[in-house]
Amino acid sequence: MIESSDFRTGTMPLNHGGGSIPVLGFGTLIPDPAVTITATRSALEAGFRHFDCAERYGNEREVGEALQAGLAAGGIAREDIFVTTKLWNTNHRPERVQPAFDASLNRLKLNYLDLYLIHTPYAFQPGDNPDPRDQNNNVMYDRGVTLLDTWRALEDLADNGRCRAIGLSDIGLNDLLPLYESARIKPSVVQVESHPYLPETELLEFCRQNGIVLLAFAPLGHGMRPGPLGDPVILAIAARVGKTPAQVLLAWAAQRGTALLTTPKTAERARENFDISTLPQDAFDEINRIQTRQRLNDVVNTGSPGFIPRAKSA
Ligand SMILES: NC(=O)c1ccc[n+]([C@@H]2O[C@H](COP(=O)([O-])OP(=O)(O)OC[C@H]3O[C@@H](n4cnc5c(N)ncnc54)[C@H](OP(=O)(O)O)[C@@H]3O)[C@@H](O)[C@H]2O)c1
Repeated sequence: MIESSDFRTGTMPLNHGGGSIPVLGFGTLIPDPAVTITATRSALEAGFRHFDCAERYGNEREVGEALQAGLAAGGIAREDIFVTTKLWNTNHRPERVQPAFDASLNRLKLNYLDLYLIHTPYAFQPGDNPDPRDQNNNVMYDRGVTLLDTWRALEDLADNGRCRAIGLSDIGLNDLLPLYESARIKPSVVQVESHPYLPETELLEFCRQNGIVLLAFAPLGHGMRPGPLGDPVILAIAARVGKTPAQVLLAWAAQRGTALLTTPKTAERARENFDISTLPQDAFDEINRIQTRQRLNDVVNTGSPGFIPRAKSA
């Protein structure tokens, strides 16, 4: 449940005393380091207070630099922003979790995290290569560690207070259920692909019933065409309500009770993507009736992200 009627300042409570998460999140999956810095600064200036990072994005240093400078310039306190980062697949072995967490904090120039996620439920062969592959270019998985082993290490991090909430990403209900049952500290957030072509209704219902926030990535369908941004229903609603198609999609995500991540790269788009408001009920219902179904990111099936360039030497 969103704690304010204004999505721009809306937050959702996190279980296990984890505070609350701003509904509108800025995603930092931006390959160019210079653009990472300018886009993060612009997002902060536009009003975003929730920043989603990952060690795998390879730009935590730039995000940390931009946040440090942006907070100082805007007179914004650390406590007024919400920062997430994610444990990569090569660090699932419990003894690798605390060092990976410390390294991320260090790169982000922070002394605590608001949320730490297991990036995917897939353990890769541990080591420094984030994309370990065999001679046939197949991912080398690590069968010597279970998701629950890794979760227990995250529970330890939550116990020591340097991480206020913990959760999972790229996980389906089938894998989430057994983990949820066994967890001493229940996940606060589940981050998955979600947009009108992939509403994840069953997962959202489970999350609602159990006080978990579903955090939608790709609410604009990763900007892909064809995709939700060019859907005729979305275009017609945008024209009718005087908003852009992106604003309609982001409002729909918030209105159905998910938090969301979007990645505007310019100041203009940051202002656009932050300026969202409630859709009329008939427009909201119309989007719910869209029948097209399409998953755009295969990461949930393999653990390999679809949108991060693969190292050629792997
Ligand atoms: N857990 C995971 O495995 C996972 C996977 C993917 C993403 N994520 C997270 O989710 C975040 C969101 O990623 P996303 O790709 O889903 O972001 P998104 O904002 O839904 O899509 C980004 C794409 O939309 C375009 N775009 C942004 N604002 C627009 C606007 N106002 N009008 C038209 N097009 C617009 C961008 O175009 P331009 O490039 O031209 O700016 C870009 O191509 C990521 O940064 C990351 O933090 C997590």
